[in-house]
Amino acid sequence: MIGPLLLALSEGSPQNLSIFDPVSPPAQSIHHLSLLVLAITAGIFLVVESVLIYSLLRFRRGYAPGSSEPPQVYGSKPIEIAWTAAPALVVFVLTLVIARTEWEVRVDLDHPPPEIKDGHPLRVRVVGHQWWWEFNYDSYGDEKLGFIAANELHVPASILSESGERRPVFLTLESADVAHSFWVPRLAGKTDLIPGKTNTMWFETEHTGLFVGQCAEYCGTQHANMLLRVYVDSLEEFSRWLVNQKKDARDSDELRKDKEAFLSQSCINCHRVRGTLARGTFGPDLTHLMSRNTLAAGMILNDGGVKNLRAWIADPQTIKPGCLMPAFGLSESDLDRVVRYLASLE
Ligand code: CUA
Repeated sequence: MIGPLLLALSEGSPQNLSIFDPVSPPAQSIHHLSLLVLAITAGIFLVVESVLIYSLLRFRRGYAPGSSEPPQVYGSKPIEIAWTAAPALVVFVLTLVIARTEWEVRVDLDHPPPEIKDGHPLRVRVVGHQWWWEFNYDSYGDEKLGFIAANELHVPASILSESGERRPVFLTLESADVAHSFWVPRLAGKTDLIPGKTNTMWFETEHTGLFVGQCAEYCGTQHANMLLRVYVDSLEEFSRWLVNQKKDARDSDELRKDKEAFLSQSCINCHRVRGTLARGTFGPDLTHLMSRNTLAAGMILNDGGVKNLRAWIADPQTIKPGCLMPAFGLSESDLDRVVRYLASLE
């Protein structure tokens, strides 16, 4: 509870999760739909409440002598037709606009419509885990990528001006365990990640910056701390980020002792550090751990190993009770080395 709050304050920017402030076409479609539904339901609310309040006042006991009860109506065809037809019409209109919104939001990523197909799509396969996000970067335009990141999704800004090329983000969504749901309200609606099924979603925005979201489907103890961060980078920033992510983990002679200490621990059964013997896939890929701003799926700031990373490795359960990473009871010196090695992975 306190952790994410401090994180929000420390970054000095309000974490905007409002569906009323959309910056991407799918979120805009949903925003329009929600305004229409709100208007219709507000209209119904007003009519019902007005009739109710009018009846309460007009026919209350002691008011209007001689007419203590409203006229009783039995079997009136016009009234019955009216109260059947009006709701049916409302439901019909809602069904049509919802179908249109579905049509706008859902895109077959193998055959996207021409207006976004001709761009430079970034394709990422998202896998939901208890309780973190795996991002498999498949391709960017025609370029194959093939690296894995976690919890912080970097995407390029999509330039929508006449001359600019569009850079939509195409996500395929899968789950490694239970059902999760990917939700970054300002970019797109919720889409579930369901075991044994592949869902898809897309978004694009020209607004750079951080867009926060979170898992929106109860998935176990730490569901509330399965946080999501989408960084929309300028094209240059994104290219720089890509170049770094494609590299194998940093290696140098002065890291040798720390690296050996890390590789001798059971960390490597669950975590991958590309270019080393650590090839686990159960937990997040750590190859470029220091390129992330947060740890533990957005719960704590990544302070480069000073305090938070050390505390996390020493005992993840005090920070994220129930999470699937155990405390391994490392000695202080082993802990120092492991932290030093991980803090070098830029
Ligand atoms: Cu994953 Cu809730």
